[in-house]
Amino acid sequence: MISTQRWRVVRLPAAAAGFAGDVRAGLLATPRRLPAKYLYDALGSLLFDAITALPEYYLTRAEREILACEGAAIVAAAGAPDELVELGGGSGEKTELLVRPALAAATALRLHALDIAEEALEAAAGRLLERHPALTVYGYAGDYDAGLRAVQLEGRRALMLFLGSNIGNLEHAEACALLRRMRAVLRCGDALLLGTDLRKSPAVIEAAYDDALGVTAAFERNILVRINRELGGTFDLARFRHVASYDPGSGCVASYLVCLRSQDVHIAELGLDLRIHAGETIHTESSYKYSEAEIDAMAAAGGFELAGRWYDRGHLFALSLLRAAGVP
Ligand code: TRP
Repeated sequence: MISTQRWRVVRLPAAAAGFAGDVRAGLLATPRRLPAKYLYDALGSLLFDAITALPEYYLTRAEREILACEGAAIVAAAGAPDELVELGGGSGEKTELLVRPALAAATALRLHALDIAEEALEAAAGRLLERHPALTVYGYAGDYDAGLRAVQLEGRRALMLFLGSNIGNLEHAEACALLRRMRAVLRCGDALLLGTDLRKSPAVIEAAYDDALGVTAAFERNILVRINRELGGTFDLARFRHVASYDPGSGCVASYLVCLRSQDVHIAELGLDLRIHAGETIHTESSYKYSEAEIDAMAAAGGFELAGRWYDRGHLFALSLLRAAGVP
């Protein structure tokens, strides 16, 4: 528990209540699916942090390189914001690469941090607050929609952050809709810094989502662990394998759990009995890769104009600064 005037957390209701209902709907759907946001419980957040350190998962390193080299330029292009709003910031390690230059340009800074994982949120806030005495953090534990409804901008200039490949986890129509909801929170002239993984060789992408060590497989299968623990499920983990496949046509890498041997699953809390056959899949996540033209089209559909774009040396990843345009 953090005890300081510079921290407060809002616990948003939807996150906990939604899990049981979403698991039921997803497991009864054809094909079966489980929403990716439920991968991030306390253990899932730690496993994702481990993914970001894997040799195959180039995304976080590339984005960190851009922020470390260009953080000050990004903050300047965003108009020296005194308020940051971050969606799904996780460990807060990349956030800090913008907090530093923002604090160098403004005397005080407020960070609104929205994250589904309350433990990760509190840990990240604690680290940032300890290191930056002029920082205030408002945490919102819940999903993006609930968080965006709760945020109230009070500062002179806001910069919203949607980093990682988080936007890639949404279908294109959903991504545009989320950008519009972000735009509605911002004022004319505020900006959004959007991370996107770029289209590239399928082998590079598939390795990033199916690492040799098996951390991604553990991360994915943890959602079954979570169902077993929280909803009284009987999934036999040994019967599920993680598979990732990239379709260069759509630019989407899809992650699945594939059932290796038929099994009967009982989920006590849901009063649900299922037979999952060998070869059946449970889809857990889509991760879209973007071209520059696709980023620009999405930005325009969301009510933003391109104000700057930065790349890592390997040109694997892009950070686009999108300015809130006109009336939302
Ligand atoms: N947002 C991350 C991404 O799309 C999350 C992620 C990485 C992920 N590897 C995964 C989600 C594997 C599910 C399965 O890159």
